[in-house]
Amino acid sequence: MTDRLTIPLPDDMHLHLRDGAMLKAVTPATAAHFGRAIIMPNLVPPVVTGAEAAEYRARILDALPDGNPFEPLMTLYLTETTDPDDVAAAAESGLIHALKLYPAGATTNSASGVRDFAKVQGVLERMAEIGLPLCVHGEVTDAEIDIFDREAVFIDRVLDPIRRRTPGLKVVMEHVTTSNGIDYIASVEQGLAGTITTHHLIINRNHILAGGIRPHYYCLPVAKREEHRKALLAAATSGDPRYFSGTDSAPHVDAAKESGCGCAGCFTAPNTLSCLAEVFEGAGALDKLEGFVSRFGADFYGLPVASETLTLEKGAPLEQPKSLETGDGPVTVFDPGFPLHWRVIRD
Ligand code: NCD
Ligand code: ZN
Repeated sequence: MTDRLTIPLPDDMHLHLRDGAMLKAVTPATAAHFGRAIIMPNLVPPVVTGAEAAEYRARILDALPDGNPFEPLMTLYLTETTDPDDVAAAAESGLIHALKLYPAGATTNSASGVRDFAKVQGVLERMAEIGLPLCVHGEVTDAEIDIFDREAVFIDRVLDPIRRRTPGLKVVMEHVTTSNGIDYIASVEQGLAGTITTHHLIINRNHILAGGIRPHYYCLPVAKREEHRKALLAAATSGDPRYFSGTDSAPHVDAAKESGCGCAGCFTAPNTLSCLAEVFEGAGALDKLEGFVSRFGADFYGLPVASETLTLEKGAPLEQPKSLETGDGPVTVFDPGFPLHWRVIRD
């Protein structure tokens, strides 16, 4: 039985670090286990220009423990007035690695997102030309579409049309939550990939709603039926390079989660790798974890695989941190609902 696994230092290809006191508190948790992360730009106000991304990057570096080599891979928030030249310059300088498309109103801090997709076509074409990926929050926002159907409808109404009218555009379908999303990615040979979160490999909608409402499992896209979780698990553990890890670790203080109108987001950064090792081991696919967390994302983004390594070691159940203190209040850490045995050792 394998009880040690050494892999290149992982990347988190979808991460929310926030700003201010929250940024200071949560950044070390990711930097302890990951070498790089694609940093989501949905601050208030959002990170829209190259100059704003450079400033945000400096604040992230400032929040790192001394000597930690973590590299934030910055993104810009796509708006209807995004300037293609600014995007190209920020990409050319190596500052940004993607643009993020939030349909207006889809999720936390998405009010500045895109309403009229025709208005961003020029930017998308420029991105296709220079090979800059578009990260997509794949949910429609129409009030008449059921929240459990929003991903599937988005693929038909928005994502597929964008890809057809923008040949060569590299797209990451972020936090895929349905078999429809997996099937769509599987149908495309090149230029489309999907990130899968840790929590969507573990919970289904019953975890949120059955036997009492559990706000710390509420995130967007919302977890779906068990059959969808199984499709995500099969994709993540398949060794297919089109699926890779993006935790979507999205901290909110407990007061904002445990509320009459609670925020969406699961904070998984501190125990993500231990959770993933447990999940992959349970699926008999521990040998596929390395591709999922350390290789396929880097390959898609055209980055070298890390030369530094990290070891996961199996032992007695770990003491699991329940919450993280921040200057803004406590943030509850994701509870997988089962014991974790895989300890992370930075080599
Ligand atoms: C994210 C957040 O809180 O910023 N929330 C979430 O539920 N995933 C936004 C997002 O990625 O949709
Ligand atoms: Zn997110």
